[in-house]
This record gives sequence, C-alpha cells and structure tokens, in this order.
Amino acid sequence: MGISFVPLDHTMSLVLLALVAGTGMSRAQALPPGPMRDVVDQACTRCHLATEFTTKHKTADQWAQTVNQMIDKGAVIGDNEFDRLVDYLTQNFGPEK
Ligand code: HEC
Repeated sequence: MGISFVPLDHTMSLVLLALVAGTGMSRAQALPPGPMRDVVDQACTRCHLATEFTTKHKTADQWAQTVNQMIDKGAVIGDNEFDRLVDYLTQNFGPEK
C-alpha cells in the first residue's frame, strides 16, 4: 500500500494561549500620581485592568504578599522597586482609604 500518513500533532495549547493573550489590555486608567506610577502602570496592567488593584484596600504586608503572588504569575518588578511599589500601593490603596 502506498498511503502515507502525515502525523497530526498540533499543539492546541498554543492556540489557547494566543486567545488568552489577545484579550483586552487597556492602559491609562487614572492611577494616582506618584514616583511609582509609571512602574505600576507598566508592571501591573499587562494581565488585568488597574481596577484589579485600585479597588482593593490592603495593609503593607498584604500588598507585599499580593505583589509576590503577581511575580509568581509573571509580573516583572526590579528588586529595588519592590519596596517602593508596596509603599505606593499602601499609600494609595491602604486599609483605611
Ligand atoms: C503576569 C500577569 C500578571 C501581572 C503582571 C500582574 N498580575 Fe495581578 N493578577 C493576575 C491574575 C491572573 C490575577 C487573578 C487570579 C488570582 O486572583 O489569583 C490577578 C489578580 C490580582 C489582584 C486581585 C487578587 C488579590 O490578591 O487581591 C490584585 C490586587 C492584583 N492582581 C494586583 C497586581 C499588581 C499590584 C500587579 C503589579 C505589581 C499585578 N497584579 C501584576 C496576573 C497578573
């Protein structure tokens, strides 16, 4: 028999990833001013809207925990930016705001 098969091993996961990555990424939400604003805008609005954190109220410890979780997910934050980032979040989205 002269029939040859072409193996079909397409990776569906790549298609799914492309779909997830393509969903709306809107920037320029009114983030409060501050030295870390641009860093936050770039580091924290890649995967979700700024409202994901502008609507939250956390203590410094809780923000540090959250930022660590985001780093685990893939957020890129410089070592020397971590503390200032947590400060910015706590100042603007602290527990008593
Ligand atoms: C690599 C993608 C990614 C980046 C970058 C990212 N996040 Fe997230 N974030 C997620 C995902 C996914 C969720 C929802 C899943 C979940 O709740 O665990 C989430 C949820 C959240 C939540 C809601 C859950 C909670 O713990 O209150 C907050 C707040 C948050 N992100 C803040 C931030 C901040 C601040 C930054 C910047 C330092 C950031 N994120 C950067 C992926 C990301």
